[in-house]
Amino acid sequence: MIRDPGRLRLLRERSRDGAGVEEMNEAAFGPDRQQKTVYRLREGVKPIPELCFVAIDQKDRMVASIRNWPILINDKWPAVMLGPLAIAPELRGLGYGKALMWHSMAQSRMLGHSRIILVGDPEYYNQFGFRRDLALNIQLPGWVDDRRFLALELVAGSMIGVHGMIGKWRPGWRPKKTRKRI
Ligand SMILES: CC(C)(COP(=O)(O)OP(=O)(O)OC[C@H]1O[C@@H](n2cnc3c(N)ncnc32)[C@H](O)[C@@H]1OP(=O)(O)O)[C@@H](O)C(=O)NCCC(=O)NCCS
Repeated sequence: MIRDPGRLRLLRERSRDGAGVEEMNEAAFGPDRQQKTVYRLREGVKPIPELCFVAIDQKDRMVASIRNWPILINDKWPAVMLGPLAIAPELRGLGYGKALMWHSMAQSRMLGHSRIILVGDPEYYNQFGFRRDLALNIQLPGWVDDRRFLALELVAGSMIGVHGMIGKWRPGWRPKKTRKRI
């Protein structure tokens, strides 16, 4: 069977897509996904709307989705937490995952973000520049398989000196003004 979905449309996630995105993620990651530590950082926090995308086929079915969440590292360094990314089972391995990843990362940079973290298979995410060593000085608030905990610098050097516990995004958070030494 030739797996050709024809032309797909890549759209910003619309309000009516919520249930479809949940179904995609359920199919990709199973019902236990919400027990994962990363979900703690998503509870009560909205994803970044400009960084949530869905791919829609010609029959108007959702075939892929990606979301990104805002987080705060050590209450000092804002970052993007990428995921979940899910591709419909029948369309996996055709390059759509890569397309969504590059699009999402480019948009993050355009919005001014400088670092991204995620928990996922390094065998997949290394190709986009995600690295284990960049995440060695940061922690998640719960258990994680360390080898899958990765970071990426959208701006060169943006993980240098970044350390500590990752927490939920706080609306209204602003960087503290550093006092200038005279
Ligand atoms: C993981 C996922 C997002 C990748 O998207 P995709 O559209 O299937 O993958 P792409 O076509 O963009 O990329 C294919 C390439 O990545 C590789 N790849 C795909 N999934 C992989 C994985 N879990 N680990 C390692 N490599 C993987 C393929 O071998 C292929 O390599 P090639 O380009 O050298 O041929 C998708 O398969 C999916 O939704 N899977 C279910 C969830 C899951 O398994 N997640 C694991 C990662 S967190």
